[in-house]
Amino acid sequence: MKNKIVAGNWKMNNDKEQTKSLLNKLNSYKIPDDVRVIVAPSYTHLDQSIQMLKGTQISVAAQNMNAASSGAFTGEVSAAMLKSIGVNSVIIGHSERRSLYHESDEILNNKVKSAIESDMEIIFCFGEELDDRKSGRQFEIINKQLSSTLFNMSELDWKKIVLAYEPVWAIGTGETASPSQAQEMHAYIRKIISNRYNDNLANNVSILYGGSVKPSNVKEIFKGSDVNGGLIGGASLNADDFMAIVNAF
Ligand code: 13P
Repeated sequence: MKNKIVAGNWKMNNDKEQTKSLLNKLNSYKIPDDVRVIVAPSYTHLDQSIQMLKGTQISVAAQNMNAASSGAFTGEVSAAMLKSIGVNSVIIGHSERRSLYHESDEILNNKVKSAIESDMEIIFCFGEELDDRKSGRQFEIINKQLSSTLFNMSELDWKKIVLAYEPVWAIGTGETASPSQAQEMHAYIRKIISNRYNDNLANNVSILYGGSVKPSNVKEIFKGSDVNGGLIGGASLNADDFMAIVNAF
């Protein structure tokens, strides 16, 4: 079964007190039973967030991890470290990691393998740049990004994978993909997964849309039959806005 999922990627925002305050606000809302809600605070507040969200419907993801299990990788965090504090989900492949920190498809493929070996759920991000879309190459780019990072995973591994289509030109720009652009790409993603694997797998993977989703545009985006939720940046920092999105299905 596909899950309806709304995940908040807090990026490098919120100190300890702000994290506490936002989580307290989120905890005061009633969440629909059929929606999974995930928040991704920074590494320094994961433990605190796990503690504050115990027994609630909100779970916690990390924003990144290293593919290695341990060793001389100054400043990095492993899957085992995340698991040891109760974090069972991780965002991999965000466009900011790809562009600012030069994470290649090969690096991302290694991270995916490492996360799967550690039995972590992966929210895998991908998306085309503005130039790709302007030149009509968006489908080719998405096909390449998925083929070189996820299509060597086994069918069983896909049980741990959630996809997040985030066109780079729509991230933090206020410009969102139109509901029909989002639906069209999500349907294409299902088609190439079906071609590589089978219909059953393609129909059961959750595909989230991300890029300037806000309360004012979310209802139309979520109407797409292949859109199973959202990965939310800016609007996830405000409890009212985030919960309006959670309630928008
Ligand atoms: P915005 O919602 O701020 O555009 O960010 C989207 C995003 O990058 C989520 O990972």
